[in-house]
Amino acid sequence: MPTRPVPSSTGASRRVELDEDSGTVLLRTDQGAYVFRVDRAAGIVRHVHWGAALPLADAVALPPWSEHDNSFAGRWDGTEEYPVDGGARFGVPAFEVRFADGSSPVEATVQDVVLLDHDHVAVLLRDRTRPLAWQLHYRVPPDGDVVERWVEFAHTGTSQDGDVLLVRYASAHWPLPHRPDWRLSSVHGGWSAEGRLQRTALPVGETALGSRRGHTGHHANPWAALDAGDAGEEHGEVWVVALAASGSWRITAQRTAAGRTGVLVNEGHEGAELRLRPGGRHRTAASLALHTAHGFGGASRAFHRHLRGHVLPCPGEVRPVLYNSWEATGFDVSEENQIALARRAAAVGAELFVLDDGWFRGRDDDRSGLGDWTPHPTRFPRGLRPLADEVHRLGMAFGLWVEPEMVNADSDLYRARPEWVVHLPDRVATELRHQLVLDFSRPEVTEWAFGWLSQVVTENAVDFLKWDFNRSFTEAGVAAGGPDARRVHVEHARGLYRVLDRLRAEFPRLRIEACAGGGGRVDPGILGRTDQVWTSDNTDAVDRLRIQHGFSQLYPAHVMSAWVTDSPNPLTGRAVPLRFRFHSAMAGVLGIGGDLTRWTDAELAETAELVAVYKDIRPVVQHGEQFRLLAPGEGPLTAVQYLDGDRAVVLVWRPSTAFGPQEPPLRLRGLESAARYRDEDTGREWSGATLMGFGLPLPDLPAGDCASGMIRLRRVEGSGRDA
Ligand code: DGJ
Repeated sequence: MPTRPVPSSTGASRRVELDEDSGTVLLRTDQGAYVFRVDRAAGIVRHVHWGAALPLADAVALPPWSEHDNSFAGRWDGTEEYPVDGGARFGVPAFEVRFADGSSPVEATVQDVVLLDHDHVAVLLRDRTRPLAWQLHYRVPPDGDVVERWVEFAHTGTSQDGDVLLVRYASAHWPLPHRPDWRLSSVHGGWSAEGRLQRTALPVGETALGSRRGHTGHHANPWAALDAGDAGEEHGEVWVVALAASGSWRITAQRTAAGRTGVLVNEGHEGAELRLRPGGRHRTAASLALHTAHGFGGASRAFHRHLRGHVLPCPGEVRPVLYNSWEATGFDVSEENQIALARRAAAVGAELFVLDDGWFRGRDDDRSGLGDWTPHPTRFPRGLRPLADEVHRLGMAFGLWVEPEMVNADSDLYRARPEWVVHLPDRVATELRHQLVLDFSRPEVTEWAFGWLSQVVTENAVDFLKWDFNRSFTEAGVAAGGPDARRVHVEHARGLYRVLDRLRAEFPRLRIEACAGGGGRVDPGILGRTDQVWTSDNTDAVDRLRIQHGFSQLYPAHVMSAWVTDSPNPLTGRAVPLRFRFHSAMAGVLGIGGDLTRWTDAELAETAELVAVYKDIRPVVQHGEQFRLLAPGEGPLTAVQYLDGDRAVVLVWRPSTAFGPQEPPLRLRGLESAARYRDEDTGREWSGATLMGFGLPLPDLPAGDCASGMIRLRRVEGSGRDA
């Protein structure tokens, strides 16, 4: 059976194989396989298998899903890798176009299947008569279980053909295998209530998740997990799909009455058309997907590994303990009060001091100033440099809050450049938080942003930017108008990426935190050019457990910024002991956001101790594997375990107490059965088998509500993990 040779011989293991005779392509991941078959005669790319590993001979022999044959059936619905809008297809197409004459049906022909590298294959297709070509790309990174897909469109005609409008342009359709039932897991939420995990039976029909907001959104996040209803946290097959993009998006899970299920992953929601002029091209955002047989926890860990190994810009670093001024001083920042905070922050062990909103001209509250990025003349009469120098002298890095994509109508920028906003000139420009959105799809706007950002970073020796975005799009369109005016829903975020990429290239030591009013812009796209994300504006340590649980489904603790703030919490009014607040924030990238000038000496001393403990466990939390032992809300306790080499850390919380039976021991995960582990604080030793089988006897938690504990274990005998 001939297979086409791989062009570059890199020595890496082959992740993609093609059987020429049958047109079968086998993608191999660490644990599994993804198979499709190219039917050149019919112009169809049929899905064959996604799941357990199998040999090429079997992949070639597996029958595709049989077609229905009656005059009402969608013959290929749910069976194709990238269904076009044309022929006897009645499901949601992966892409949809309007040709210049207003017509839309597409007739696909297969041009070729090309192995571009040992890990990369492309199927080249084009319309039979119309000026449109598209390529389906599949890449399997050298390790892990993720398959990456994207599509490249090209207008292959001349000016006589007119433009082609891409109405819908999915990054991928991910067909799922045959199962009697399907369950969909995703997160929903809102501002200060991100990451609420929901699991629901998937009905026959179309179930859409998405954002029409121009940014990723607090209300949903661009991933979905599917299982047959039988997976648990640590067992069972789970399929996860995600989108690496930060604009509007849509994920549609489609289950047909004929028993086929698949998921379409799209950048743009309805009505975010893109125009292809003759010779024009469009490359979609990447969609990432994986299959695991190790439950939702296994899926999360596999995705975390992928993000750390292939997406994050600086995965080997540990993120510093930061201090942020926002909850302490709000807009009322000044050189004096920030220096006072910085001195206390340094004394308790913070490594990065971030001056938040309020530092620039005209910014006395949220009604004005956005766009005028020079230091506030009365709050920082000497500019920011004296503060930055003092922060550096204290041994900390200096960070600065910015919101480059926004403008207040009350700003010199808006008075000079009203046409730079995405809002349409003859429509009401809805203000949210008194601000409007600048159109980052326009090169002159991103050029301006890069210009002032690089100047501010250079002049003030800025080490870290907190990049905020505090409103969703409304009445959005590019000023030039036209049938694709709403492309800004996709292209704004691409302009943002260009600025971030350029900044990182210009300032390789600069680190960036993504923020959109908390967790409104968390996705695998932004994580390719930022180092951490501000998880939520809700800093209540109890609420955070649930938010962090949702966050962890896709994203690792390594990027999850979490602050310890004042008690009672300003948002919820809940009083929470300092220790619990720390334990909650220590589950991610620890920061402090309280008004340290009002904390007692005893609180500051305890803070310094807890920061030191965090620095000890930080490599395990940030670089280790995460096991969600007990989910919030399922019982009195919530617990998370991190495992990195010979160390394990367990954090356990009891937000509210209730009279009842004793809590069972915490059964740990991923340890080596035969090894012994020492509790680094008590000196007690246990075997891995005991810790996983019987469980870790619960530490004595303080009585009452909001009790928490932390256990550090170190392997003292034995080596390596169980196979
Ligand atoms: C929203 C962010 O999430 C907050 O942390 C803070 O930076 C404010 N914006 C400042 O306006």
